[in-house]
Amino acid sequence: MKQKYLPRIADKVLNTALEASGAVLIEGPKWCGKTRTAEEKAASALYMQDPDHSASYQQAADIKPSLLLNGDTPRLIDEWQMAPVTLGCGSVCGGSTRGNRSIYLNRFCRTQR
Ligand SMILES: Nc1ncnc2c1ncn2[C@@H]1O[C@H](COP(=O)(O)OP(=O)(O)O)[C@@H](O)[C@H]1O
Ligand SMILES: [Mg+2]
Repeated sequence: MKQKYLPRIADKVLNTALEASGAVLIEGPKWCGKTRTAEEKAASALYMQDPDHSASYQQAADIKPSLLLNGDTPRLIDEWQMAPVTLGCGSVCGGSTRGNRSIYLNRFCRTQR
């Protein structure tokens, strides 16, 4: 069971970014709460690393990446770097013809030593 969400400063930053842009990229070190914070705002989510679906998501990314963006918005694309095409697709599919499709593009970012 998930722990109760603890509000953080990043929530307001994220709200502002979502109002300003159709696609928001969240970066940070592993385990800092990127996914959890994005989930609080997301109306739907795609977890690229989900072992049960990862292979089919990869195929969709190769054949018709817009399929991965189908879902209520804001939509979280977790570990988007596993299908980099989603980033470009977000900006193309986020145009006025498809309405406001705010997307979270969440990426593991290695900390420097
Ligand atoms: N604001 C928060 N309130 C409650 N739990 C949180 C919060 N942020 C992170 N967590 C918990 O900390 C752990 C790591 O967060 P996660 O979002 O998976 O990190 P990341 O995606 O950056 O690797 C998870 O168990 C998550 O539920
Ligand atoms: Mg994560």
